[in-house]
Amino acid sequence: MCGIVGYIGNQEAQPILLDGLRRLEYRGYDSAGIAVMQQQKISVRKCAGRIDKLQQLTDASPLHGSIGIGHTRWATHGEPTDLNAHPHTDVKGDIAIVHNGIIENHAALRRHLEAQGCVFVSQTDTEVVAHLIHTLYRGDMMAALQQAIRMLSGSYALAVLCESEPDVLYCVRLGSPLVVGVGQGEMFLASDIPAILPHTRDVLILEDREIAVLKRGSIEVFDDLGARKTPAPLHVSWDAAAAEKGGFAHFMLKEIFEQPDAVRKTLSAYCGPDGLQEMLPGAPDLVNFIACGTAYHAGMAGAYYFAQLADTESAAHIASEYRYRKLFPHANEAVVAISQSGETADTLAALRQAMEMGAHTAALTNTLGSTLDRTVSRSLLTYAGPEIAVASTKAYITQVETLLLMAMDLGLRKGKLTRERAKELLDGLAKLPEKMESLLKNQAYLQQYCDRHMHEKLMFFIGRGMDHSLAMEAALKFKEISYLPCEAYAAGELKHGPIALINNGTPVIAICTQESLLEKTLSNLRETKARGAETICVCPQRFAERAAREADIVWTVPDADELLLPLLVMLPMQLLAYHMAVAQGRDVDKPRNLAKSVTVE
Ligand code: F6R
Repeated sequence: MCGIVGYIGNQEAQPILLDGLRRLEYRGYDSAGIAVMQQQKISVRKCAGRIDKLQQLTDASPLHGSIGIGHTRWATHGEPTDLNAHPHTDVKGDIAIVHNGIIENHAALRRHLEAQGCVFVSQTDTEVVAHLIHTLYRGDMMAALQQAIRMLSGSYALAVLCESEPDVLYCVRLGSPLVVGVGQGEMFLASDIPAILPHTRDVLILEDREIAVLKRGSIEVFDDLGARKTPAPLHVSWDAAAAEKGGFAHFMLKEIFEQPDAVRKTLSAYCGPDGLQEMLPGAPDLVNFIACGTAYHAGMAGAYYFAQLADTESAAHIASEYRYRKLFPHANEAVVAISQSGETADTLAALRQAMEMGAHTAALTNTLGSTLDRTVSRSLLTYAGPEIAVASTKAYITQVETLLLMAMDLGLRKGKLTRERAKELLDGLAKLPEKMESLLKNQAYLQQYCDRHMHEKLMFFIGRGMDHSLAMEAALKFKEISYLPCEAYAAGELKHGPIALINNGTPVIAICTQESLLEKTLSNLRETKARGAETICVCPQRFAERAAREADIVWTVPDADELLLPLLVMLPMQLLAYHMAVAQGRDVDKPRNLAKSVTVE
């Protein structure tokens, strides 16, 4: 979704802003712009389209100055046009703002401001904020912002430039993330850490309703009533290279290849010489996961692990559904929110519901300092490093891995899992990265398959139990980056309707990691073959012979413990989606209509 950058220092702001915006491109956007204070006057360059287009504008007509703000917009109110792009200014153009989030009462405010003579030039909710601040400004931006945020409802991260205070950059947030990078005699502002990593790793994460006043050599933070606060900066361990492509054609491919390392790091974070850490506090007898998209699929895998290893009732819920559902308090329930970004609006709202209900809550996130990380008392991190491609790969794999470890820890503490079985799994997990590396070495067969099948109209992914969750994740990867329609079904459900869609040659991919369900799934595959499907079975080496009796094609992964196989079979599925997207000429890292961090409902 939208991205914000800001700079105040002694260097030229324009190249720093443009570079920061490029680092936020992965969040998804459809227009971009910057505003720079040039000799105490604000100048704006903005346009619909990609940052390359904005760069052409600034090359033709550069902005010189050492204070500025920038924005990538993902359209919500009004189409992606030049006029709707941020920054927005007030009537006179002496205040410029960029905004992430949604102003829910924008229509009422617009009517009120129009009645006062404000002339609007865009269809955005954001322009309202520029006019509002202007009408409230009486020579003190702090006071104007305090008043303005009392009048705004919705969510926002705002950065503000004001000609009457030309050496200050103001920012404030509610519900949308904003971080300040602390440099030597310079400050960087961004909605997301990767944008400031090349400059500093000391970051200050703003809390809701905090107003930060950035000057070249200082940062002051106030609450909405004007009381001074002293937040401590956080040192992030990610380096700038971790958020760069490093020779790979796409971030997604790089991130797929980073998975063995991410699995190693996550394992060593939770399992030391003394064994597994206590991960979930207490011993809940009901564990619910709330999440969206890929993280929800990880939650489905987690629910399977909790049932198998901890003998604990567990389920995954789509956060946007959970938040509006009637909830029934349970005496000993844990609700775990899963989110790569830690900023997904629906997941955060569902978590608040669970908290209000009195459940014990915990988080699983890839982003230290994210809203989710800071909302719960027990936050578990995945150690995937920054994930830039919109399609989640390494975050998902480390989520599934951490959920497995959580289930094992609970199982051990509840006496449902033996030390021997736990050791077997941990030993297997330690060997997994090597198997993943060997699997990643050979992807030519997937590339060839995609080249041959790039004109397919529909594909199916099927599986039972744990494999159903994997089929759903495989299909989601496929849809979001190749735009090829596909269905993910519990294998046993096919005959209750969707089998009608099978035509001559329709590819049906069955994921089979569980011995006890293998024959059942293969027989479902046979049913589709009988109706003309081209059938593929993805399974461990040890099932290959049996699979070959039923499937037209068998893709194998190295043998491993059944509970670890999900971490292996997902690799060829991610690569399949990747190669199909490349074959189709898609924008792999920035698929249409999608955003990396979904901060609106
Ligand atoms: C798909 C994908 C999305 C996210 C979803 C939740 O590849 O990345 O489905 O999983 O938007 O995002 P987070 O995990 O940041 O809450």
